[in-house]
Amino acid sequence: MFSKTLYISRRKKLSAKIRSGIILIPGNTEAAMNYPANTYHFRQDSNFLYFFGLDQPDLIGIVDVDNHREYIFGNDTDMEDIIWMGPQPAIKDLASEVGVENTAAFGKAAELVATAIKSGRKIHFLPTYRGEQVILYHKLLGLIHSRVNDYASPELIRAVIELRSVKDRFEVAEIEKAVGIAYDMFTTGMKMAHPGVYEREIVGVMEGISVAGGNPVSFPVILSINGQTLHNHKHGNKLVPNRMLVMDAGSESPMHYASDITRTVPVGGTFSSKQKEIYQVVLNANLAGIEAMKPGVTFKSIHLLAARTIAQGLKEIGLMKGNVDEAVANGAHALFFPHGLGHMLGLDVHDMEGLGENYVGYDHTVQRSDQFGLAYLRMAKTLIPGYVLTVEPGIYFIPELIEQWKAEKKFTQFINYEKIAGYMEIGGVRIEDDVLVTPEGHKVLGRPIPKTVKEIETTVRP
Ligand code: GLY
Ligand code: MN
Repeated sequence: MFSKTLYISRRKKLSAKIRSGIILIPGNTEAAMNYPANTYHFRQDSNFLYFFGLDQPDLIGIVDVDNHREYIFGNDTDMEDIIWMGPQPAIKDLASEVGVENTAAFGKAAELVATAIKSGRKIHFLPTYRGEQVILYHKLLGLIHSRVNDYASPELIRAVIELRSVKDRFEVAEIEKAVGIAYDMFTTGMKMAHPGVYEREIVGVMEGISVAGGNPVSFPVILSINGQTLHNHKHGNKLVPNRMLVMDAGSESPMHYASDITRTVPVGGTFSSKQKEIYQVVLNANLAGIEAMKPGVTFKSIHLLAARTIAQGLKEIGLMKGNVDEAVANGAHALFFPHGLGHMLGLDVHDMEGLGENYVGYDHTVQRSDQFGLAYLRMAKTLIPGYVLTVEPGIYFIPELIEQWKAEKKFTQFINYEKIAGYMEIGGVRIEDDVLVTPEGHKVLGRPIPKTVKEIETTVRP
């Protein structure tokens, strides 16, 4: 846990932004996997972690802004709990570790909320993503289950995003720890990328390293020789020569801050000339994107810079043609790079996405585009020191999309369809790093993970 004063100061800042009413932030409960007592690995809600720090189920945090009182509601363990789970600290002691003075049994939260509602006070809560919490909000607030999120407080959403977006040095240190674990996951996984190995064998080893580092992976590992499927969670293929293996994974630090790294390696460790050509274009886009990161610049402009780098590189290879700026302005590059350049990273791997992608990544200065490709950009806002983002360009050869565009004769002024066939076997290439915006510019977080052609070849080869 961070220091008590940090949690106190976070809640103080939140109260100052909200100004009046009650702020209700429940933690997560256990979630059943296939029967009630067999639960998924417990993951605390990130907003609860940020403001109340405690990493166990069945707690509710409340800030009464008008009366300057803070509460944690939760039940002390009884003998049955002690028999199964061992002795646990009293809720009062836990609350005191994060600077909260008032505690009561879980059920008492309903009384506090009911009294507040009766006196016409505003209850601020965040959108939820779990059925158990929907039921809780229904019980506490009397809302119809299907409409709970409609009543989430926009003021609270904006205030939480403002606070969580800017990472302090303790949070950055946690993300660096998570990248450090990813370093071990990737360098070990890369060495296994040889013909005859099953993808799942590599996934198992990488997940094990994450768990050994303190926590499970920060999202289900994406690892496939079919990297043209952007989020490929199927791991049944046997690695074969001439394919590229996309490895996209991250760990959670002991305090649940995420890393999110992607590397792409040629199976066997030696790039063919075509693989090298495409890889170098993606690497150039990754490096150009990172280099452009600094306060005052919009991430949308950096996305477009990466898109132009990709279009320019593909033009030099002969897969694209015509004016690069025009091609990107029209979205022609999205045939090969159909996703956004990156996203915020923090306690969530797509940080705060549960609060609404548009709240996190867009504001009155920058609206989401509806152009294919650009529409997937999760984050477009102006960068501020303390933001941590991923920079993850890619080039993909998606057969179905290429066939469709070719049949439609789409962007024939920018795309050399006849040359694409020779590159289909590459599948996909993506390269992703985690980058902090600093007052001077940027810092790539954590121990550098092999990335150049030479570094990759040296790491993978026996
Ligand atoms: N690393 C997976 C993603 O960013 O969507
Ligand atoms: Mn990512």
